Amino acid sequence: MTDIRNIVVLTGAGISAESGIDTFRDAGGLWEQHRVEDVATPEGFAKDPDLVLGFYDMRREALTKVEPNDAHQALARLEREFSGELLIVTQNVDDLHERGGADNVLHMHGELKSALCTSCGTRSAWDAPMLNRPACPVCQAPTLRPDVVWFGEMPYQMERIYAALRSADLFVSIGTSGAVYPAAGFVRDAREMGAATLELNLERSEGSYWFHESRQGKASELVPEWVDEVLGD
Ligand code: OAD
Repeated sequence: MTDIRNIVVLTGAGISAESGIDTFRDAGGLWEQHRVEDVATPEGFAKDPDLVLGFYDMRREALTKVEPNDAHQALARLEREFSGELLIVTQNVDDLHERGGADNVLHMHGELKSALCTSCGTRSAWDAPMLNRPACPVCQAPTLRPDVVWFGEMPYQMERIYAALRSADLFVSIGTSGAVYPAAGFVRDAREMGAATLELNLERSEGSYWFHESRQGKASELVPEWVDEVLGD
């Protein structure tokens, strides 16, 4: 793989599954336990803010009980040792890439450990509950919401992602079902711009068809193997 200079990696809930974080669409996943429209839309938040704040408080608290796995660590190693450009784009709102050692992770769907003030618009690092309506650290208004992108809202940093996809020669999708756009369309965007495309997922996903190659297995095994290949180990 010596000719690969620019890599874009997209990760989804499957990379954190073996750390003990529920995925969304697998059996028993979060969207079987909760209605998407209740906890992941602006309308749901307007209707029942306590339900929504409590849901994200619970998920933020759950982060204290999990650890990054070999897949997160392998991507961090790639970031450290790859001589070309690497952008890790994650749909995940957990902090396991960072805790696994990666420094430069783009959270396109926001982060559990960030608060967005609906009064002043500031995004602040946040590690505490929100159900008790704490004050915004900047404007002091008690109007914080989870800094998580809900259905109907625009994901973060799309321009930077598309710029990276345009110059990518390899696009790799890890642990995502390919059910949610715009992330689900990245494989086609990357292909159109000439990148090779690889999927690493437990099973074939809705978008497997679009990839040049799709490998099935656990992220904790497939990702370290692939990183070894790229680094020539
Ligand atoms: P999904 O739950 O839709 O898909 C997770 C994928 O990971 C599935 O294809 C599983 O087969 C795969 N998987 C499970 N365990 C795995 C393992 N150990 N190794 C490798 N793969 C594994 O989660 P996402 O695709 O991340 O958005 O969902 C995308 C978005 O939908 C989320 O970011 C979230 C959700 O609604 C928002 O909330 C905006």
